[in-house]
Order: sequence, then structure tokens, then C-alpha cells
Amino acid sequence: MRIAESKIEEIRNSIDIVDVISQHVQLRKRGKNFIGLCPFHSEKTPSFTVSEDKQIFHCFGCHTGGNVFKFLTEFHKISFVEAVQELAEQQGITIEFDKAEYTEQQSEQEVLYDINTEAARYFLNNLLNDDEGEFARKYLHGRNIKTQTLRSFGLGYALKGWENFINFAKSRNLNIDKCVQLGLIGKNSEGKLYDKLPGRLIFPIFSPNGRVIAFAGRVLDAKDTGAKYINSPESLIYIKGRILYGLSFAKDDIRRLDKAIIVEGYMDLISLYQSGIKNVVAVSGTALTDDQVQLLSRYTKNVVLLFDADVAGIKASMRSIEILLKRDMEVKIVSLPKGEDPDSYVNKYGKEEFEELIKRAENFLEYESKHYESQGKFEDPSTAAEAIRELVKPVALINDELKRNLLIRSIAQKFNLREKLIESELDKQIKQVKRFEKTDVKVFQNRKAEETTATLIDAVPEISPVLYNLEREIIKLLFEADRPVAELIFNYLHPEDFSNTLNRELFERVKDEFENEDNFTTSGLVGVLNDERKETYVRELTFDKYSVSSSWEDRFPSITAEITMMRFAKDTVVKFVMERIEKRIQSNRREIELSDNEKKHLELMKANNELEQEKKRIREELGE
Ligand code: GTP
Ligand code: MN
Repeated sequence: MRIAESKIEEIRNSIDIVDVISQHVQLRKRGKNFIGLCPFHSEKTPSFTVSEDKQIFHCFGCHTGGNVFKFLTEFHKISFVEAVQELAEQQGITIEFDKAEYTEQQSEQEVLYDINTEAARYFLNNLLNDDEGEFARKYLHGRNIKTQTLRSFGLGYALKGWENFINFAKSRNLNIDKCVQLGLIGKNSEGKLYDKLPGRLIFPIFSPNGRVIAFAGRVLDAKDTGAKYINSPESLIYIKGRILYGLSFAKDDIRRLDKAIIVEGYMDLISLYQSGIKNVVAVSGTALTDDQVQLLSRYTKNVVLLFDADVAGIKASMRSIEILLKRDMEVKIVSLPKGEDPDSYVNKYGKEEFEELIKRAENFLEYESKHYESQGKFEDPSTAAEAIRELVKPVALINDELKRNLLIRSIAQKFNLREKLIESELDKQIKQVKRFEKTDVKVFQNRKAEETTATLIDAVPEISPVLYNLEREIIKLLFEADRPVAELIFNYLHPEDFSNTLNRELFERVKDEFENEDNFTTSGLVGVLNDERKETYVRELTFDKYSVSSSWEDRFPSITAEITMMRFAKDTVVKFVMERIEKRIQSNRREIELSDNEKKHLELMKANNELEQEKKRIREELGE
């Protein structure tokens, strides 16, 4: 469903982005803007900037940015509509849904949610009522799952055969292409359709708000040669690394108990829940991701890892510990007896025993050092040094200095080493983490950013840095300008004057707005360039700390903003035009020197004369 554009405007106008972001990020004032530590990537010095005037935010580290809705969608991993609703609720604004005007993306998401909901009901019904479902019912019963529990989690069963779901989908008029997108129906190379999960036990996967976004199907039939679990592919509504299985069921208890238990499997979570341990989420087969940790960190900072005791489980624990520490989570680890998983353990020993186990959780130092000890690493001085180095590694990821120091002390005591020794090792590691973070940001963290930088770098060689900076200043001015300033710029400059393609396109876009809109303003334009790359670029420009425009204001604090802006605009236009003319004059001079054609000489000298005249004219027109 779509919310009327006017409502969205009303909501945006009724709130201040600084207030909203302050609820989640500690901000402090710097100049005109506010800065803080970016909630979207891990950093130690603030590069997250919020502009009160422009009502936008931007991070110079990971290049995420946009308006208040963008912040909420990213921060809470919710949809645009949900973000609007959240703010509306806070403001006591009622929203009417505008059914006539669907935007494509929103309606497409709704269609996908609806298909999944219908499918989940169908699978549940098979499990509860179909004759063929008897086998699945028995299976779950054998694993001690009560009917009440399977209903709560919406478990289901997909009938055997290749067309049962297809026929159901057709009978309900579900969009078949979308069912294919959602991984409910497959399509072979000849275009023939087939059911994707036949004969499998179905686990719906829910968004944090409890909507069905995907499915996992577990084999039941011994003859099924496919994978043990088949998961829906990623889609518009399902991004694997951003989902924790069971969060919608667990979030209240996680908050209340201020602790989350992370397990590996669906069945682990369901069994624990049934036994009354409800503050549990499952990573379900993938390695814990930073997005998942971020998601979880909204509910608690305390995490207990409860992975299988096998090699894969230990590896997964070690990796997860690092990701959790980076987000300043308190991590504890529970080791299960060999051969048990949380599901089997709680079924065998019951809730109380399980809670005892959780109480005995170790901190990550104890856990990791025990692990190295069991490998015999501390018996030989050379492997011991290596193991201690490994132990220090995760400590380097912790942002909190006090916490780091306490951990250093405990490592020193444990291994009877001087604290200084561990400290110097830690310093080395911290430097490495920093270096890694830098490449991280550049190389992986944000493809958008990479593109922006790449485009700029591409264009730079053809153009002098001075000219390049002036181009940026002009674009920046255009996005801050009022009508008179824009008029001045369009009077003297033209798209062809810009060597950088991105700058030229943006210049054209604003010019278009200027010529066709009576209420010319570019403040709204930033959000509707319909191009991530351009929007990121403009945000970066408008927040540019090193731009001349802010220093201009510093130099002339007594002058009003408009006069400052106009004077600065004139100054910049003059410099830009002069620079371009000067370049042409110089290139003409070089040509004069190289050629011995008299006629050409005269022509070039005449041209230079005219260019000098033009310089003079512009100085007169725009000078003080
Ligand atoms: P049960 O055997 O029914 O108790 O399932 P389990 O959850 O204990 O399975 P296991 O410990 O083997 O795996 C843990 C989790 O990893 C599962 O819950 C799945 O989320 C995931 N997983 C396991 N096998 C596969 C697979 O073949 N494919 C995919 N995509 N995920 C898997
Ligand atoms: Mn299991």
C-alpha cells in the first residue's frame, strides 16, 4: 500500500532529523553540522555527519546517507512504509493509505509478502490436515515438537510430486513469475515449471516484524538426494545476511532479559522456545554477519554463542566472536558436550540443566585459550607465542579502551606474562585492524562509494586540480543556491564548460529545474536524482568540510548569508572562467611557439587578445 506523497511531506516537515538520529547515535555539534560514530560501519573516529539545515545525513566512511526515512530503513532494517509509519506514530499523525497510486517497488514487495503468506498457510494446512502430512506429523512428534509449537512457528509440509504447489498457486491466481522469484517454483532450461520443495518439512522465515519473507525446506524422505535444507533465494524481501531466524519471536524476551542466545539451527531454536527459553535467534547455516549483529544490537549488547562442538562449530564461534566484538557486544561462549546440539541437549536434560549450562558460559578469552590449550599450543614456547598473538587479535577489535586494558591484564595473569608485552602486541594488532578497516572501506564496504570515486578519478587526469575543485564548488553552490545565485551561474556557465561528466550532468539537471520550475529550490532535489551515485556525490559535496564556501563564511562572519553566498558565487564563477580562459591562452601560446606559419601566428595572437578582453569584461561585470 502506498502513503500519499503529501503525508510523507507532512511527516518529514514535522520532525527534525537531528532528534530522530540522536535517539540512536550520540551526536555532537561541529560547525553547522552534527557528527557522531557511524552506526552503519565500525569506526573509532566520527565520520557520520547530520545536517540540520538540509535534513540529511551522510557518512564519509561508508558513504551511506539520505533523509530521515533512509536512516530509519537502514538502521532498523525496515521498509520505507514502516519507517514512515514509525515516525507518523511518534508524531501522532494518522496516515491514510492512498490505494490508487501504487509505486512499483512498494506494491511489488506487498505482492511478494502476500504470496509467501498464502504459501505458508497452504503448507501448514498440508501438515495439519492432509493424509500425506501424517508422515511429517509423526516425524515432528518423534522429535518432541508439540502441535501448539508447530502452529506458533507456522511449520508446514510440501506435498510430494512436481505440480502440487503450482496447481495451488494457479487456483489462487498467484503470480507464477513471482513464485519463481521467491523460489517456491522452479523453472528448468526448457521453461518447464516444477515445485521447488516437494516432500519437505517447511520452516517459514520471518522478518523482525513477523512477515513471511522466505522458506527453508528440510528433507524428510531418505530417498531425497538434495541438500538437507533448501532455502529460498534472496529476493526483494529477503536478504540472507540481514535476517536472524526467530527474531520476531524472540525480540521481546531478548529485551526483557537483556541477553540473546545465538544457535545454529532452526530446530535448536524451536526446541528451546518450546521448553521456555525464548531469547534465542538462529544464524541458520551461514556465518554470522555484521548486519545480523547490528540488527541484534538494537535489542541487547549481551550475547551467548551456542554452537555445535564440532570443528565447523568452533570455527564459526571464533569468526562470530570477532564480528560481535567489533560492535562492542559482550560475548560469552557455551561449549556443548560432544555430539549434542542445543535441541538434543534441552530434550535430554531439560530447561533447568540448560540454564545451568548458560550460566557456565565462558568469556571469549577463556574459550579461545582453552581451545589453544587443547591443541597443545602452550607446551612449546614458539607455538605459545603464536597462540597468545591469536588471543590478542580479538582484543584489538574492542573499541572500549578500559575493557581492552582489563582483558590485557587477564591475559597477562593467565599466562604469567608482563602486561607491557601484551600491550605492545596489542598496539601492533590495533594498527593492523586500522589499516584493514581502511582498505575495507575502500574495497568492500561500499560499492556505491567505489563507483563515485572511480568516476571522479577517471575524469581527473584530463583536468587540472584547480579547475576540478572549482567545478565541484560550482555544483555545490547550485545545490545550495537560491534563484539569484543560480541565475548568475547559468548566465556565465554552460554544461560544455564542465570536463567531469558527473558534474556536467548535475549542472544540466539543476539547470532544467531552474528553467522549468517556478519555485526553484534544489534542497528537495538531492533525494530525487534517482541515481544512488549522483545522490551520494551531491551529499558528499554539500557536506564537504574542506570546501572554500565555509571558510568564506568564517572570513566574513558579519555579512548576511545571502550576500555571502552571492559574493562567493561571483568569486567562484570568476575564478572558474579565468582558469578556463587562461588554459586556452596558454595552449594558444604553446601553439605559437611550435608553429612557424605566419598566418596561424596572427590568428592565435588575435584569439588571445580577445580572450584577454573577455577576462577583463568578466572581471568588470563580476568584480567588487
Ligand atoms: P536437524 O538435523 O533437523 O536437527 O537440523 P539442524 O538444524 O540441527 O541441522 P544442522 O545442525 O545440520 O545444521 C544447522 C543449520 O544449518 C540448519 O538449521 C540450517 O539452517 C543450516 N543447514 C544445514 N544443512 C544445510 C544445507 O544443506 N543447506 C542449507 N542452505 N542450510 C543448511
Ligand atoms: Mn539438530
